[in-house]
Amino acid sequence: MDSSDTYWHDRALLEWQVELGVTEAILDAPVDRYALEAVKPVPKAAVADAKVEGPPPIPQAVEVDAVGIARDLAAGAGDLVALSAAMQGFEHCELKRGARSFVFSDGQPQARVMIIGEAPGREEDRAGKPFVGRAGQLLDRMLEAIELGRTREDAAQAVYITNVLPWRPPSNRTPDAAEIAMMLPFLERHIALAEPDFVVLMGNTPCQALLGRSGITRMRGDWVEVLGKPCLPMFHPAYLLRNPIAKREAWADLLALKARLRA
Ligand code: URA
Repeated sequence: MDSSDTYWHDRALLEWQVELGVTEAILDAPVDRYALEAVKPVPKAAVADAKVEGPPPIPQAVEVDAVGIARDLAAGAGDLVALSAAMQGFEHCELKRGARSFVFSDGQPQARVMIIGEAPGREEDRAGKPFVGRAGQLLDRMLEAIELGRTREDAAQAVYITNVLPWRPPSNRTPDAAEIAMMLPFLERHIALAEPDFVVLMGNTPCQALLGRSGITRMRGDWVEVLGKPCLPMFHPAYLLRNPIAKREAWADLLALKARLRA
């Protein structure tokens, strides 16, 4: 048979099988089942003795103690550069995967005042710096009103700014309790390493993280203590943009901070 004969022969066989109802090819080559050795029945006793092999065990997800890992990493960081590197290497916060930038801090680490916000928003995620969007611009104006600023070189007039979370939550949603808990050891170490004289908490999220409670409307303006440092909860500048009437209280809080700095 030449090759064209083989083609027509094979094709005729295939068409015949299709006419018989074959719809699917299972193997590349046919199996001659008459040539296979007949399957011998297995004695019942052998069946009873046989070890039943179930499906292979499904690997169980190992539960990771993300807070413990964060605590160890944070404790091992001897300075702010090491802390930033340790946080960037921390793989247990899912927000890291959705964020464009890691946002650590801005301003002067030697400043007497450390300001803590919630988390980067869209502008901060783009710029890799905290508080650079509209709320950040308002924050800069508020600070300027009491002669403070993130670009001032003198530690007495400078501020140092960070957030509870270094990665932007999707759609700027509020950070959840697990995210706050796993990043808290880093934040606490951040405060310990920066050693500010005063801490300012902007809005509910840093209050929840560091004081274990929120309710900024009641908490704002009352000095408390965080890691042994005087700490002032204030309205978040984003809240002030939405509620300009609350700027009155924010101004009172800024004046209280200024008075403490001058005391
Ligand atoms: N809001 C925050 O809490 N932090 C930022 O960095 C920006 C907006």
